[in-house]
Amino acid sequence: MGRHPLQAEQAGAEVMGATPALPLLPAVILVALVAPVLVLENGLLRTPPMGWLAWERFRCNTNCDEDPENCIRWGQRVAGRLEEEAGEKLFMEMADRLAQDGWRDLGYTYLNIDDCWSGGRDTQGRLVADSKRFPRGIAFLAHYAHSLGLKLGIYGDLGNFTCMGFPGTTLDKVVQDAATFAEWKVDMLKLDGCFSTHEDRALGYPKMAAALNATGRPIAFSCSWPAYEGGLPPKVNYSELANICNLWRNYGDIQDSWESVLSILDWFVQYQDVLQPAAGPGRWNDPDMLLIGNFGLSLEQARSQMALWTVLAAPLFMSTDLRSIAPRHVDILQNPLMIKINQDPLGIQGRRILKDQAHIEVFLRPLANEAYALVFFSRRQDMPYRYRTSLAQMNLTSAKLYEAQNVYTGDIISGLQDKTNITVIVNPSGVVMWYLYPIRKQGRSQD
Ligand code: GLA
Repeated sequence: MGRHPLQAEQAGAEVMGATPALPLLPAVILVALVAPVLVLENGLLRTPPMGWLAWERFRCNTNCDEDPENCIRWGQRVAGRLEEEAGEKLFMEMADRLAQDGWRDLGYTYLNIDDCWSGGRDTQGRLVADSKRFPRGIAFLAHYAHSLGLKLGIYGDLGNFTCMGFPGTTLDKVVQDAATFAEWKVDMLKLDGCFSTHEDRALGYPKMAAALNATGRPIAFSCSWPAYEGGLPPKVNYSELANICNLWRNYGDIQDSWESVLSILDWFVQYQDVLQPAAGPGRWNDPDMLLIGNFGLSLEQARSQMALWTVLAAPLFMSTDLRSIAPRHVDILQNPLMIKINQDPLGIQGRRILKDQAHIEVFLRPLANEAYALVFFSRRQDMPYRYRTSLAQMNLTSAKLYEAQNVYTGDIISGLQDKTNITVIVNPSGVVMWYLYPIRKQGRSQD
C-alpha cells in the first residue's frame, strides 16, 4: 500500500506543532521555517463532500426563453413579479429535491452553482448575479438552501474571465470577492483557473484561502489549481496544496461518456503513488462529478463509477436532473453502505492493488475498524467473468476471520480466511464491490 496517508498527516502535524525548539533559532531561520503559513484552518470536509453540482448536466445553458426548465437560474421576473411556477427555478427545484427525496439525510448537502451565474460587477466593483436569471441574488438562494438544511456552493475563477467568459477574480479582487461570498453566506467556493497565468495561480490560490479564512465564515475551498499545472510534481506540490485547499481538481473535465470516466480513472491510477498520499480528512483529490442518472453510462458503468469514486475517497457531486432521475440510478447514489464507505472517518484514499491479465483490476481502500472496501473491476467487453482469487493473493494475509458484504446486492459472504478460495463474477465494464470486515471468532457462525 505504500505510505499510509494518516502517517503522512501525523508527520505533518508534528512539524507544524514543533514550536518548543523554535525560540532557540536565530530569527532569520525562524522566518524561513514559518514562511509557508498554514492558511487553510477551516476544519471543514473531514470526509469527502457530497452534494449536487450544476456543471456537467446543465453547463452554461442561459437560454431561459427556449429552455425554461433547464437554464441556469434561480427565478425570473415576469412583468415585474417574480415568476414562481415550477420549472422556472433550476436551483430551487434541485434544493427541494435534495431536501425531500432523501438525499440530504444521506449526506448530499451541498447545492453548488457552477459557471454562468454572474451579471458582472457593480459600481463598487462587487460581483453581482445576473439580475434576470437570479433576480433576488445569491444571498437569497443561500438563505433558501440553509432553510432546507443544505449548504450553498458558488463558482469563481482566478483569472480575467471564467471559463465561459464571465467576470473573473483577478488578484486585486480576491479579498473583495471572498468578502462578497461570505456576505452572501456561501459555504463552498470552487475557484477555477481559466485565463490565469502560472504566477497568478501561485499567488492567487493561497491569497484566496487566506481571504476566505479572514472572513470568519467557514467556506470550503475547492481549487482547480493542480488541473491547470498538469496535476503532478514538481509543478504541483501536494503537501502545500493540502494547506490551502480542501479539495482540488487534478485533471481534465468529465464528460458524459464511459470513455471519459476511463480516461480520468487511468490517470488517477497511473499517478496513484503521488495522488493517494495527498488525500486525507480535509483535503481530497477530486476526479470530477458523477455522471450517474445522465445519458452516457450503462447501468453497469454507472455502478462502476460510483464504486470507483467511493474507493478513491472522491467527493460525491452528482450532476444530474434530480427532478426526473430513474429509481435504478437513485439506488446507486443512495446506497447506504456505499455512502458509509465513501464517508469513512479515516479518509484514506484507495489504490489499485492488482491488474490481472484477464483484464480484471482490484482496488482496495482501508477503512475504520480494520475493515476494507474491495472493488473488482472488469475492463472486459465479452461476458461476465469468473475471477478467482483469495485474500492472500490480494496481500490481505492477516490471521483474522473475515466476512464480506456485497455492497450492491447486500449478500453476505462468511468464513473468509486468507487462503479461502474466492470467486466473483464481474460483468463487462462492471464491478463487484465488497465491504470486508473482521469478525470475532467467538459468537459468530462461520457458514
Ligand atoms: C472548467 C471546469 C468545469 C466547469 C467549467 C465552467 O472547465 O473544469 O468543471 O466549472 O470550467 O465553465
